[in-house]
Amino acid sequence: MPARLPLAAQRLVIVTGKGGVGKSAVTAALARALAGAGRRVLAVEVAHGGLGPLLGFDGLKATPRLVAPRLQAATLEPDDALADFVHGVFRFGMFARRLLESTSFQVLAAAAPGLPEFLVLHRLLGWVEERHLGRRAYDVVLVDAPASGHSLPLLAAPRTLGTFARIGPVAQVLRRVDELLGDATRTLVCLVTTPEELAVRETIELHGELVGRLGLPVAPPIVNALPPRRFGPDDEAALARLEGAAAGHPWVLAARHQVEHRRRALAQVATLRRALRTPVIRLPFLFAGPEAAGGVARLASDLAAAATRAA
Ligand SMILES: Nc1ncnc2c1ncn2[C@@H]1O[C@H](COP(=O)(O)OP(=O)(O)OP(=O)(O)O)[C@@H](O)[C@H]1O
Ligand SMILES: [Mg+2]
Repeated sequence: MPARLPLAAQRLVIVTGKGGVGKSAVTAALARALAGAGRRVLAVEVAHGGLGPLLGFDGLKATPRLVAPRLQAATLEPDDALADFVHGVFRFGMFARRLLESTSFQVLAAAAPGLPEFLVLHRLLGWVEERHLGRRAYDVVLVDAPASGHSLPLLAAPRTLGTFARIGPVAQVLRRVDELLGDATRTLVCLVTTPEELAVRETIELHGELVGRLGLPVAPPIVNALPPRRFGPDDEAALARLEGAAAGHPWVLAARHQVEHRRRALAQVATLRRALRTPVIRLPFLFAGPEAAGGVARLASDLAAAATRAA
């Protein structure tokens, strides 16, 4: 049974996973799927994750811009987010500007542990809560988050930093972010993996941290780039029976490699399902890659199907 992606009314969707597993491709596809379903989406890449080209738009900026109907996109850098936060706290613009320009403040800001994470979360919260003329600016904010090693400190920041900042504007933001992240009706964390041993192992560990330690709402994992099934059971059996010269033919070797490659991938899917005790969402390996025409759309239609699947 393929898994369902519980995306009904989520306001914040965070896509993470090991480096290079397809986080940006999945974020782009989710953005298309959600915008296609009529939701107004803001897709955000944190620290230049490579999202822009997959949305058909190179050169995303800190300010959201429309890249498709109902779909806006932006890039989020801690430096830009710092200016944003300081201007928010010090309503008097000149003071904020002077502070940002002061060298000692810059040195302090660069050295403050957890500050980049805090600033990214503050910016995301701002977009989730943003309203224009009494109406929400975006139905859903979709985040192409950094690879696991950086996403974990990001998602843990409200807890780790909350122990230092108990009062004041920082503490207030942390409390609001903590409430938002932990609320399964508003937030969903999506873990992307490829069907490979290292990526699957990292996904299982990350899942344990996010669900077990932080209590965050995490979706069934998305297994990206699953090798397609090229041969039926009879052909596979025939390939296995070939002997002698025929068995050494390059086409036979290539076909056997295909069969073996898929078998290993499915074994990794099984490991993941057993460890997390959940079915998974599968996305196909695309030979031309998601960047090719129709690539993101193909992944989007599979994700849209997973989102509308009966519970
Ligand atoms: N379903 C797929 N089929 C084939 N190739 C894919 C698929 N998904 C992603 N790729 C390829 O894998 C590579 C990594 O994809 P992507 O940039 O989306 O990963 P990422 O997790 O965002 O990487 P990073 O950690 O560097 O930000 C790219 O070259 C992309 O073309
Ligand atoms: Mg990326």
